[in-house]
Amino acid sequence: MLQEMWSNGFSTGASWLDELHFGIAKSLRRASGAPDPDFGRAYNDLLADLEMVFREEEEKMADSDPVAARSHREQHAQVLHGLHCAHGQVLDGDLHLGRQIATELLPRWLSFHMATMDVPLFRRSSDSSISESASATSACPSTS
Ligand SMILES: [Fe+2]
Repeated sequence: MLQEMWSNGFSTGASWLDELHFGIAKSLRRASGAPDPDFGRAYNDLLADLEMVFREEEEKMADSDPVAARSHREQHAQVLHGLHCAHGQVLDGDLHLGRQIATELLPRWLSFHMATMDVPLFRRSSDSSISESASATSACPSTS
């Protein structure tokens, strides 16, 4: 899904962010294509890349509208929480869950998040100072 967005010329309006998002698309592609013995590592790499991208975005939005930034950070935290919860299951051998996340759920979430949060924030900010200068507290849900 993310690859389709890029092949259709998707852009947030901020080249530094497009590069980060493109890196996530590559991580998703690597995880999706990883053979079973390598999938756990690929999922771990995907999580690390996503955390890095979210951290970069959050640093850039430090001077933006605090209400929008808070909502944006909450979305990042919620999806990372879910991905970390699933990570344990993936490491325990639930590759089906991991592959479903890498091929369907996360690309769908990212597409929605980028369209509704990243693009509006960083397009708006491209007119201001942060353009090109470049908690989750609940427990993991039970799966039984
Ligand atoms: Fe974001």
